[in-house]
Amino acid sequence: MNKAGEMAIEAAPLGASSPPSPARILVADDQADVREALRLLLKAEGYVTQTASQPSAVLELVQQHDFDVVLMDLNYQRDTTSGQEGIDLLSRIQGIDSKLPVVVMTAWGSVELVVEAMRRGARDFVQKPWDNQRLLSILRTQVDLYRALRRAEQLEAENSLLRAQNRPVFISEARSMRPLLTLMGRIGPSDASVLITGEHGTGKEVVALTLHALSAPARASHPMITVNTGGLPEGTFESELFGHVKGAYTDARLDRVGRFEMADHGTLFLDEIANVPMKQQAKLLRVLETGEMERVGSSKTRKVDVRVLSATNADLKLESAEGRFRSDLLFRLNTVELHIPPLRERREDIPLLAAHFLRAYAGRYRKAIQEFEPGALRRMMEHPWPGNVRELEHAIERSVLICVGDKIQASDLGLESGAAGASKIEDMGLEEVECLLIKKALARHSGNISHVADALGLSRSALYRRMQKYGL
Ligand SMILES: Nc1ncnc2c1ncn2[C@@H]1O[C@H](COP(=O)(O)OP(=O)(O)OP(=O)(O)O)[C@@H](O)[C@H]1O
Ligand SMILES: [Mg+2]
Repeated sequence: MNKAGEMAIEAAPLGASSPPSPARILVADDQADVREALRLLLKAEGYVTQTASQPSAVLELVQQHDFDVVLMDLNYQRDTTSGQEGIDLLSRIQGIDSKLPVVVMTAWGSVELVVEAMRRGARDFVQKPWDNQRLLSILRTQVDLYRALRRAEQLEAENSLLRAQNRPVFISEARSMRPLLTLMGRIGPSDASVLITGEHGTGKEVVALTLHALSAPARASHPMITVNTGGLPEGTFESELFGHVKGAYTDARLDRVGRFEMADHGTLFLDEIANVPMKQQAKLLRVLETGEMERVGSSKTRKVDVRVLSATNADLKLESAEGRFRSDLLFRLNTVELHIPPLRERREDIPLLAAHFLRAYAGRYRKAIQEFEPGALRRMMEHPWPGNVRELEHAIERSVLICVGDKIQASDLGLESGAAGASKIEDMGLEEVECLLIKKALARHSGNISHVADALGLSRSALYRRMQKYGL
């Protein structure tokens, strides 16, 4: 923390990523000596291989693991010459993962079979006995293409989601907030699941962004993906979170990457978690427990490495005691719980936050406003802030727009002066209304007196007299 009480965290640049993991190749052939020869060749090139001797084992492995390429023979025991078993296998692999590249191996001279395999979606072929260099070059090309495709798919999904990525700045110097700040500093770098609680507008999302930015560099360099779990229409929950494959729904014309996959190696922020219906809670629990999920319509299990942060303004323990929230899910989510107190319980933070928002909005709207009148500060310190920091932020933005001088006045804030609700025009005195109208017109015309006088149907001198009277 610096002197001003700001905990400013430098987020690592987006897009930096950890070194690529070794490519995984599935080798399928019913001849043990062929499998062994290929395994040794590929191992020497730094590939991780798994082998299978028959079609059923291939399908099982493709379902359970992520491979970068499959290298498979077309002939198996059942009928060793036609290649039909291999062609069937190829189609079934495509059914599980249409993007996974498959390279087929055939005996010399079986041109028909090669053509058929390529027509069915094989990416390339080698004829036995193979030439090592040609085989390696084919595999390298397929691995590179596949990885580039997957990365592009993930990036596109992330880009369409990422809002303007501001560096998170969590401001606080209230004594009552110190334990929270200490705890954030301590658990940020871990992978712990954190449940962030607090009223509306207390800063739950800022805390989530801060925790993500404090994560281990490999994670912090990936984005934090936010999903408003409570706001998803019933039918779209699974597809949003887990993605779907082409054809999973009548209007699913393309594969779709879900938020869990987008957040792979990064952080997933599940907002408004208390509103997730019971039925969906079970689905969420599974991926949180195992890190495994399937896209809707696909039986291929994918593993994701995601740190999960969640937030709610409800009392989840109560929700759970009353049977509306699964206790096992709650247990998964709140390895650590961070509670952010409402603004009215940490009033020392008000001037600091107000100054921060004033700087930000004066900059955005190009206004030379430096500070608050003492009356404005007093008004802010007295206000109960039911909408917490977000309400404060909006009040400052509005006052920057309305303010005509170089200091924010109490009246610019648009807060009621007493316990009563915000002034309605029918409850105002005539002079108050006149003052308000003049202020609005001044704001609208950027302080241009002639334009304001025209707009209000006053002479310039009549306008000046009134401005003097109201201290404008
Ligand atoms: N400590 C803080 N320092 C700086 N800005 C803050 C802080 N707390 C909140 N804000 C700002 O206040 C606004 C509301 O915060 P945020 O969206 O994180 O609240 P929330 O608790 O997630 O609210 P909701 O429950 O309504 O989703 C945001 O614009 C945020 O940047
Ligand atoms: Mg929020």
